[in-house]
Amino acid sequence: MLITLPDILSPDDLAHARQLLLEAPWTDGRDSAGPQARTVKNNQQLPHDSQAAQAIRAMVLNGLNRSPLFFSAALPLRIFTPRVNRYGGEANTYGYHIDNAIRLKATDTGATEHVRTDVSCTVFLNPPDEYEGGELTVSDTYGTRGVKLPAGHAVLYPGTSLHQVTPVTRGHRVACFLWVQSMVRSDEQRRLLHELDMNILALRQQHGETDETTGLTGTYHNLLRMWAET
Ligand code: NI
Repeated sequence: MLITLPDILSPDDLAHARQLLLEAPWTDGRDSAGPQARTVKNNQQLPHDSQAAQAIRAMVLNGLNRSPLFFSAALPLRIFTPRVNRYGGEANTYGYHIDNAIRLKATDTGATEHVRTDVSCTVFLNPPDEYEGGELTVSDTYGTRGVKLPAGHAVLYPGTSLHQVTPVTRGHRVACFLWVQSMVRSDEQRRLLHELDMNILALRQQHGETDETTGLTGTYHNLLRMWAET
């Protein structure tokens, strides 16, 4: 399932992010790639401990936490430390790859935990008219789709999918990227739950609370109980 989350960041957030990025200490993106990805990855990223990365990370996590659509579509259990990356100039592309399945995350307390990369999320930090190219292309069971969204919007796509970022030929593309370990590992089961949730919401808006919406809400939760790991 590939799904767009509109307005994860506000105009104020985006202005703040732009300010933070003016003097950001970009480094080589290959530092965090696995052996296969390293051969096709050519972009820049911010060190996790830089001030800009910390502030943008907090902004993005707040935005996602406010979004009922993110919760419904991703059913998040753990989120891997979001990264801020940039494509342009000599470091302008990331060829086709599949992300590593498991990442090791340093937690706030200094401990580590594993995060399974069930869902990938890209949050666009600058508007598409500032660059040419830089399209996220995702190939999965539904075919191949190109994604390029307004600043502040995000896209979710399955961690299992082959994907790339096409070369940026003018300007820079700046985005925040993160993985989610979902309570529901299967993309198919997550999609069914999300569709059921959205349809119950629409029914409730059209007809108010009825015996049927109550029943379907029960079905949603019983499926979630059957499929979720916490
Ligand atoms: Ni990737």
